[in-house]
Amino acid sequence: MFDFKYYTPTKVIFGKNTESKVADLIKEFGGTKVLVHYGGGSVVRSGLLKRVTDTLDAAGIKYIVLGGAVPNPHLGLVYEGIELCKKENVDFLLAVGGGSAIDSAKAIGYGVANEGDVWDYYDYKRQVSGCLPLGVILTIAATGSEMSDSSVITKEEGLVKRGYSSDYGRPRFAIMNPELTMTLPDYQTACGCTDIMMHTMERYFTNGGNMEITDALAEGLLRTVKKNAVILRDDPKNYDARAEVMWAGSLAHNGLTGCGNDGGDWMTHKLEHELGGLYDVAHGAGLAAIWGSWARYVYKNCLPRFKKFALNVMDVKDEGTDEEIALKGIEAMEDFYRSIKMPTNLRELGVNATEEDLVTMAHKCAVGVGGEMGSARVLNEEDMLNIFKASV
Ligand code: NZQ
Ligand code: ZN
Repeated sequence: MFDFKYYTPTKVIFGKNTESKVADLIKEFGGTKVLVHYGGGSVVRSGLLKRVTDTLDAAGIKYIVLGGAVPNPHLGLVYEGIELCKKENVDFLLAVGGGSAIDSAKAIGYGVANEGDVWDYYDYKRQVSGCLPLGVILTIAATGSEMSDSSVITKEEGLVKRGYSSDYGRPRFAIMNPELTMTLPDYQTACGCTDIMMHTMERYFTNGGNMEITDALAEGLLRTVKKNAVILRDDPKNYDARAEVMWAGSLAHNGLTGCGNDGGDWMTHKLEHELGGLYDVAHGAGLAAIWGSWARYVYKNCLPRFKKFALNVMDVKDEGTDEEIALKGIEAMEDFYRSIKMPTNLRELGVNATEEDLVTMAHKCAVGVGGEMGSARVLNEEDMLNIFKASV
């Protein structure tokens, strides 16, 4: 095993009606003037935003509101939010929504707390030295951004989607009421389950430093989400299943399932970010569409982990060669995706990629990772192109 740092400062308030605690939490963390940031309007339609602002009004907390964070959130709105916060002397950010609203809020927080162009951080040119404090009311279990150090932003010019990670961006608190996720379209619920599992799988398919306890947590989390994703497909209002998935989402991306290993592979995510940037697809669906092609390309270089995954997560029988077992595990995962109506290739994702698109994405991906990346197998630009081609 490798040495590791585990840092999860986010205070989690989990359960029914927990959004009613928001004013107390903002006061606890010193907020006096809040930017309430949200997405395309689901929180307006559900009445959640009104409940939140009513709670702030009743507590005498000043706030301004900025909506419009789109899935694959845009840099333009981040700039707008930064200007607004500076003009209005905002000292606390409250994201009400999913990964997109949260990530957009993190970027706004970096832009307010640091001089210069905020894109520099996403372009790997500089590191932040602070962030406005941020709280979250989560409405979709998916990215884990409510406890993670990451934020992913798309620059409209050139459709460049990049992630930036810093402990400064970790939310101060996360309010998680599973009931708030019951208004989700089924497709988004399935995308979320896919993303949650992938955050743990990225950390699982590695070639260094694995620990038994980390594997046990990871495999338990994967089995739990797999089971509850199917329950939610048939019974979307099932509170317990919503709760299992929601908590799994946070644990999948707060570092817990990566303790002791080499940091993870992350190439499925990097490849998906190109799909999200170019075609604006839902992140979870993009991951499902690319994973099988990635897995078949790399499994021989990470065979013991693929075998373990097949046996302990996908319930494959321990019969045949290691390669056969590993391949059955990959097939079983794709069957699972299909069972929750997730795509397993670009066509099913609704993307008709031209050869030129594939070349462009592979090139942008290679540039984005600094040439090559991966742990299950280190991939260069040619490998990335091969995987994109196999996923068409
Ligand atoms: O925008 P609104 O109107 O709120 O609608 C959203 C959006 O259309 C809707 N939605 C969310 N909660 C809802 C709801 N609709 C009805 N009822 C509710 N309760 O669902 C759609 C998706 O929302 P979004 O916030 O985009 O989803 P998600 O949480 O999956 O976030 C995706 C973004 O996060 C990035 C992704 O790349 C993508 O840009 N990621 C962020 C990570 C992080 N910060 O740690 C890690 C991830 O790997 C990921 O890359
Ligand atoms: Zn993800």
